[in-house]
Amino acid sequence: MTPPPARWEPMTAADVDAIAAVADVVHPAFPEDRAVLAERFALCPEGCFVLRQGRDGAVIGYTLTHPWAADSVPPLNTLLGRLPPEGAARVYYIHDLALLPAARGMQAGAAAVRLLEARARAAGLATMALVAVNNSGGFWRARGFAPVDSPHWQQKLASYGADAAYMTKVL
Ligand SMILES: CC(C)(COP(=O)(O)OP(=O)(O)OC[C@H]1O[C@@H](n2cnc3c(N)ncnc32)[C@H](O)[C@@H]1OP(=O)(O)O)[C@@H](O)C(=O)NCCC(=O)NCCS
Repeated sequence: MTPPPARWEPMTAADVDAIAAVADVVHPAFPEDRAVLAERFALCPEGCFVLRQGRDGAVIGYTLTHPWAADSVPPLNTLLGRLPPEGAARVYYIHDLALLPAARGMQAGAAAVRLLEARARAAGLATMALVAVNNSGGFWRARGFAPVDSPHWQQKLASYGADAAYMTKVL
């Protein structure tokens, strides 16, 4: 029998270990501690989703997102402490969208972006932002994101790798 297609579902606290395992596979060059991933979920559970497959709901991808300040990138592998206070956030920030290699190329990434656009709107934020890494710039451009080029960003993104670009999309 054909297995049910992969589906995005709200993340739960019980998924933290599973997304950490996916992160280890997808981002070996940008390791983040389990505590950092768990804190993103604790701060904004409604912005976190997992891609599940099969009857057992195995996690094959995830996305972590949250409201954030304008023109600011949280350093990698760092606890945030808190989100901007009510009304102070300016962008809906995609901290990460990561799929295991076998989960790619099936439009799950595109589906996640549509889901996140709805979350941004629900949070009352008209701009989305992210740091594109791993040569993913083309994926984000096709979803309507554009790079913000400035020496300011080149310096700030040094730890994210040579191809990193801060990108935004106005909804
Ligand atoms: C980038 C990523 C999220 C894309 O997800 P995906 O499910 O494989 O992408 P989709 O199947 O939804 O692709 C949608 C479209 O984007 C294109 N695309 C996918 N990845 C791309 C890339 N890296 N560069 C350019 N285009 C890309 C696809 O060809 C497809 O085009 P089509 O609509 O014309 O068919 C996924 O490859 C991934 O997790 N990569 C590793 C982690 C990563 O780099 N995350 C981004 C960090 S900012």
